[in-house]
Amino acid sequence: MDVKIKKGRIEKEAAEAIVLSHFEGEESLLEETAAVDRALGGQIRGLIASGEFTGKLNQILMLHLRGGIPARRILLVGLGKKKEVGTEKIRQAMGSAGRSIREAGIKSFSTPLHGRGQNKISPSESAQSIVEGCLLGLYQFTAYRTEKRDEIKEVSQITLVDRTGGKIAEVAGGSRSGQILAEAVNFVRDLCNHPSNVVTPSRLAEEARTLAREFGLTCRVIEKNEAESLGMGAFLSVARGSLEPPKFIILEYRGGKKRDAPIVIVGKSVTFDSGGISIKPAEKMEQMKTDMSGGATVLGTMKALAQFRLPISVVGILPATENMPSGTAVKPGDVVRAMSGKTIEVINTDAEGRMILADALAYAARYKPSAIVDLATLTGACVVALGSHATGVMGTNPKLIERLKAAGEHCGERVWELPLWDVYHEQIKSDVADMKNVGGRGGGAITAAAFLRQFVGDTPWAHLDIAGTSWNDEARPYAPKGATGVGVRLLIQWLTEMSRGRA
Ligand code: BES
Ligand code: ZN
Ligand code: ZN
Repeated sequence: MDVKIKKGRIEKEAAEAIVLSHFEGEESLLEETAAVDRALGGQIRGLIASGEFTGKLNQILMLHLRGGIPARRILLVGLGKKKEVGTEKIRQAMGSAGRSIREAGIKSFSTPLHGRGQNKISPSESAQSIVEGCLLGLYQFTAYRTEKRDEIKEVSQITLVDRTGGKIAEVAGGSRSGQILAEAVNFVRDLCNHPSNVVTPSRLAEEARTLAREFGLTCRVIEKNEAESLGMGAFLSVARGSLEPPKFIILEYRGGKKRDAPIVIVGKSVTFDSGGISIKPAEKMEQMKTDMSGGATVLGTMKALAQFRLPISVVGILPATENMPSGTAVKPGDVVRAMSGKTIEVINTDAEGRMILADALAYAARYKPSAIVDLATLTGACVVALGSHATGVMGTNPKLIERLKAAGEHCGERVWELPLWDVYHEQIKSDVADMKNVGGRGGGAITAAAFLRQFVGDTPWAHLDIAGTSWNDEARPYAPKGATGVGVRLLIQWLTEMSRGRA
């Protein structure tokens, strides 16, 4: 996508289309909308007076013009109530606007800085939200469409028109941030939408190596035999049933001072979760190609981090494997030894995410990091508890959890805490080993976290269960159906605040 910035007046733009906005229930028009309305002899005012356009959030109305202003069309978009407008509403409105423009077969459009000046929205924040919303909303996964490819519609250029011109550098900075974030999220969406016969553990390792080459990161891939010597018995127990070689992937970004403790982010990377011997029902099993969402998000975050050059050191870890049934697969009742030395009774082979994370978290703790955050499509129970509108968070450090919640609120990827009280640990006690890998009927998202907790030691740690938020069954204003790429914007927001040292 080509994003341009210029100083100018939107009513003077000779564009295929311009996007104008309006607040719901307001009589007065926004400055740019009013300027165009005057040139059109009150046409927009008329539409609002008649009730045809109300300005409700994400409402869209396309107008075709025959003169009056140089632009050929106007796309009116609702920003919702004036006092409620913020960056999230702008992202949504612009996601909706971008898609309507694409549907109309339009390839480029110009837009003023919506929301600027309202509720302290800066020119930079407005620009970032517009670019983020448009680029995220315009995402489409077309890799496997071989027929009628020429019918695929695409918007290729967006122009931000800044009427004052006084803040052009700020606007450009905001726009660049929006583009880096949206491209990283869309990279994650691609990895998750590709099927598991393409995105194998080996492919994830290749993607990590490519990022390392492109952005100057350090990449190390631990192969199966080395994982064996390291004693990663929990990770390897999951890989045993598959013919795909497992890969334990490590990516390092060193933006901080040499002696600074790094932050480690860990992502569950099960490239296909059949359930193993405790096999899943056929219905919706195909969706388990996205069980590597956590790992993909770690890759996307490392990519964005390197582009932002944040002054902070971050290590990304992806334990990558398939979970398959076979003659060599781990079986219910088997006992395995994790890298930490603890023994685990495998009750259900479908609770594989916590097995691979057990070794990844123990490995992460070896860095003596200031914090570990893991992301995982870990439990159906979390989907039952929170649905698809909030990521579950649990952990050992209230401050870390608060920061993640605040970051989520800020970027529109909401996070909600579930209680990780000590009593939940009772549910994962085993008769034969140090613990078992399932915790019985109640509180499935929490007992999974209680299991993970056994492997982080004293390091401040938070676990994000993204099982409900990583996939959309229905399109949202700036997230089409399918993989959402959740977590990248959340982690970058959090890491940015950490790097400023003010969080
Ligand atoms: N990958 C699944 C969790 C999941 C479910 C992700 C739905 C996305 C959507 C995980 O490995 C799993 O199978 N968990 C089991 C755990 C159970 C056996 C204790 C579950 O949630 O049913
Ligand atoms: Zn599973
Ligand atoms: Zn899984």
